[in-house]
Amino acid sequence: MSDEGTSSLHRGHHHHPRPTGTAAPYLSRTKSFTRRSRPLHESLQRTLDAHGADYVIEARRSQGWTTVAEDFRLDLPAVFGRTAPLTLEIGPGVGEQIVAAASRWPDRDFLALEVWQPGIAKLVSRAVDAGVANIRVLEADAAQALPIILDDASLDEIWTFFPDPWRKARHHKRRLVNDSFALEVARVLVDGGLWRLASDWDDYTWQMRDVIEACPDLANPYEGERPDPEDPDPDRGGFAPRWEGRVLTHFEDRGRRAERRSHDVVGVRLPRAEKRPMAGASVNEDGKEGPR
Ligand SMILES: C[S@@+](CC[C@H](N)C(=O)[O-])C[C@H]1O[C@@H](n2cnc3c(N)ncnc32)[C@H](O)[C@@H]1O
Repeated sequence: MSDEGTSSLHRGHHHHPRPTGTAAPYLSRTKSFTRRSRPLHESLQRTLDAHGADYVIEARRSQGWTTVAEDFRLDLPAVFGRTAPLTLEIGPGVGEQIVAAASRWPDRDFLALEVWQPGIAKLVSRAVDAGVANIRVLEADAAQALPIILDDASLDEIWTFFPDPWRKARHHKRRLVNDSFALEVARVLVDGGLWRLASDWDDYTWQMRDVIEACPDLANPYEGERPDPEDPDPDRGGFAPRWEGRVLTHFEDRGRRAERRSHDVVGVRLPRAEKRPMAGASVNEDGKEGPR
């Protein structure tokens, strides 16, 4: 830990130095979740005591339990005990999707980032019941942890299904899916890797589509498809068909009963090698035409 971040305000003081220079940004960061820390239900605690070691990744923390230390990088082969194509699910809730997927694709590995402790315990319980060994879960805020824990191009897929919708306009800044998060998602995806998203909150699905199409490192393979008359831009489209690998979770089912429909959105990681040379190449080739 360094004191680099200590502001000049603190320098002339004779008080004890702040413990780390990075505490302030973490404490003041905008979060996509609110944390209710009650003790875990006894049976969930028992599940974690018995099986946590097999599924839950212990992290060194920064400021608070949902953060990871600034240098906490995952050693994936050590974490999974093998090297296999890797999917990350952000916000798996009780783990319905990730456990179903881990059973269906035993040759793939699945990593989850979740901030809700009872959810983590229920995910572990489901994984135990399903007898799957290809899942690991880390209790961490994806927005804080993703830039730290994974190398560039280390994931095949990232799933963000039904992230908390933050319905009120004044809360939209808390939404996980935004322009800066998209760049981070693109960084950790392999070329051609997929970011799969879904939501049953219309206004958030428009935002997901907009974020993908605005991201310089991602493309929307369904651009222009399935236009929605409710969309403020009704001719625009850009929605994917429901992915057959996505199970109906209790959360989505509740939304359906309340007559909320879901949209799927997909982003494809653009190839890294082609990105930069292309812009300059057309200028250099004949000296006349600028980039298209
Ligand atoms: C509405 S639930 C959806 C759960 C599940 N994906 C489903 O479709 O049933 C959203 C989940 O995202 C988790 N979450 C919210 N913000 C998060 C963050 N920044 N990092 C990781 N998980 C987060 C919440 O704790 C919650 O479990």
